[in-house]
Amino acid sequence: MRLLVCGGAGFIGSGFVRLRVRDHGDEVTVLDKLTYAGRKENLRDVIDKIRFVHGAIEDASAVAEAVTGCEAIVNFAAETHVDRSISGPEAFIMTNMQGTHVLLEAAREHGLRYVQVSTDEVYGSIEEGSFTEQSPLAPSSPYSATKTGADLLVSSYFHTYQLPALICRGSNNYGPYQYPEKLIPLMILNALAGDTLPVYGDGRNVRNWLFVEDFGRGIGHVLEHGVPGEVYNCGGPDECENIDVVRRILSLTGRDESLIEYVTDRPGHDRRYSLSASKLEGLGWRAQVRFDEGLERTVRWYRDNAWWWEPIRSGDYRDYYERHYGRALKA
Ligand SMILES: NC(=O)c1ccc[n+]([C@@H]2O[C@H](COP(=O)([O-])OP(=O)(O)OC[C@H]3O[C@@H](n4cnc5c(N)ncnc54)[C@H](O)[C@@H]3O)[C@@H](O)[C@H]2O)c1
Repeated sequence: MRLLVCGGAGFIGSGFVRLRVRDHGDEVTVLDKLTYAGRKENLRDVIDKIRFVHGAIEDASAVAEAVTGCEAIVNFAAETHVDRSISGPEAFIMTNMQGTHVLLEAAREHGLRYVQVSTDEVYGSIEEGSFTEQSPLAPSSPYSATKTGADLLVSSYFHTYQLPALICRGSNNYGPYQYPEKLIPLMILNALAGDTLPVYGDGRNVRNWLFVEDFGRGIGHVLEHGVPGEVYNCGGPDECENIDVVRRILSLTGRDESLIEYVTDRPGHDRRYSLSASKLEGLGWRAQVRFDEGLERTVRWYRDNAWWWEPIRSGDYRDYYERHYGRALKA
């Protein structure tokens, strides 16, 4: 298949590109703005097998250039960090909503199949049980609200213009190449460096963990087998409290719990996310990686790939970390 993968230089997008090039022989064009979270290094092993266009999804001329010759668009491009959406929502509105609109227009103009990569956060928090595709949308942060707005726009393009558009909503991803502001890589890198591990609130927030390769396979499955107009939830096989994730990381890195430091909670922090994947499983997808195995692989990857994270930990990220947590990272 000839694919336009938007946001393909980010964490999940680059994993998807690797999977499609390696296992499916797809011809891939990546369109990416290369924000702080997007790096060509994430595509190092496939960069000579793809076409790379440096540009923003909200820029119609960049999209027109990138989309030429493609049969489908898969959109990963987004501002993705909840904390950053609280301190500066504007970029989230521009990329997540305006950018999605520009891509939908391009898909409509060229008659392309369109997959929107979305998140369980559009459903908000759930005390018990799991969200299904019928659950009401109740986003609670500027990040999840802009992802919800984009999803509604995608659905409207199916209903109004019969665009063959689909939505795939993933639960919390983890794995190699994830930017270290997110919980798991943050804790792994701090533990490896002997830094304190800042845990929000009481650490009892529950997340439904999905290994990044499983999400990539799920999105590919929706692209190939999904019914236009439908939403598919791609939930991970295991749930875990944040504090338990942190304790497992300490044990995998040979550190003790004295490194844990509880910090002021994020405003409006959702307590629990949980996503039922039964609809996507009915289509033939299954998560292959359980949390124990995936976390061990992830810790090993960060330990073995300092070339990837050292420039991040010594660059702008240091300032972000200091501003956000009010403490400096160890050198
Ligand atoms: N990380 C998760 O746990 C998770 C879970 C479910 C769904 N998602 C969704 O998956 C997608 C990818 O998430 P991720 O964790 O890989 O994010 P990421 O922050 O690692 O990567 C985002 C990518 O989008 C690019 N980008 C940002 N703004 C852009 C713009 N205006 N134009 C073009 N490119 C732009 C960045 O440069 C980067 O390469 C997002 O849509 C996110 O909402 C993420």
